[in-house]
Amino acid sequence: MQVLVTGITGQVGGALVARSTPDGMNWIPAGRDRVDLSAPRSIAAAIDALAPDAVVNPAAYTAVDVAETDQETAFRVNRDGPAALAAACAARGIPLLQVSTDYVFDGTGSRPYRPSDPVAPLGAYGTSKQEGEEAVRSTLADHVILRTAWVYAATGKNFVNTMLRVGAERDELRVVADQRGTPTPAEDIATVLLTVLKAWQAGVAVRGTHHFTCSGETTWHGLADAVFRRAERHWGRRPIVHPIGTADYPTPAARPAYSVLDNSTLDAALAGFSAVPRQSWEAALDAVLDARLGPLTENTAR
Ligand SMILES: NC(=O)c1ccc[n+]([C@@H]2O[C@H](COP(=O)([O-])OP(=O)(O)OC[C@H]3O[C@@H](n4cnc5c(N)ncnc54)[C@H](OP(=O)(O)O)[C@@H]3O)[C@@H](O)[C@H]2O)c1
Repeated sequence: MQVLVTGITGQVGGALVARSTPDGMNWIPAGRDRVDLSAPRSIAAAIDALAPDAVVNPAAYTAVDVAETDQETAFRVNRDGPAALAAACAARGIPLLQVSTDYVFDGTGSRPYRPSDPVAPLGAYGTSKQEGEEAVRSTLADHVILRTAWVYAATGKNFVNTMLRVGAERDELRVVADQRGTPTPAEDIATVLLTVLKAWQAGVAVRGTHHFTCSGETTWHGLADAVFRRAERHWGRRPIVHPIGTADYPTPAARPAYSVLDNSTLDAALAGFSAVPRQSWEAALDAVLDARLGPLTENTAR
């Protein structure tokens, strides 16, 4: 099974192709030089030339705020690119695993969102991802759309690394405390993508739209505070994080106030094949931070 993976310079695609493949599976790593989602008309020929047996598409235009003013590119990459990928997969009779986002929801809910809940994205990024989902759904029966949330990794551009950079320079920060979600490391998403691929390889058809995040929930303020609680063991100091409201930190794109995802359909889809590995967001964060910040010193390892 030759598995083409896009977005290999990104957090999720990078984590996936760094994994060793099980017997009978190989990666075809495809950066934008091989598969350019902003050039949808080039995609069918690119897929034919690389001849995969399955495609995983974590690549996306992920600059949520910039997307508001660069909508043409966001929609080309997040809607038209996946639409072309799905058509190419349909022509070859192969499945597509499309990665999507909690930002397809408007955040007015008060219990974890299920895959079947109505979508109503608030900004251009969320809308482009939602329309990409719709294009995949309507073009290719053999698809999985995996929505995830608040992604971070030890390297890359993400909230956790921003906090580490800013917290190293400042003693006090102000962080939004009225948006709730679930931080999820790219490594854990890669594990789940690999599990779905192994299921396909074993003839277990996982299809449809599913959610995957770590367990639990927090706010950006709670996440920043947890970053510094762990970083203190490495740094010997801990910046203070003051909670502020979304209204105090205006951004070009509106974000959902609540985007916790209900993961139960994925558990059901993979039941009988493999348990979905899921850790609490706090445990996942501590592990990534310890790897990122290096060994604890004698003075700080308390
Ligand atoms: N980050 C989050 O907090 C978050 C939350 C929920 C869902 N998601 C979803 O999770 C998936 C993975 O996100 P991530 O955080 O791993 O993304 P990321 O780190 O921002 O990486 C994005 C990847 O997409 C590639 N890409 C961008 N434009 C492309 C194009 N025109 N053609 C081909 N490749 C292109 C980038 O390649 P270059 O290096 O060449 O630009 C990069 O490898 C995305 O689908 C995203 O929508 C992310």
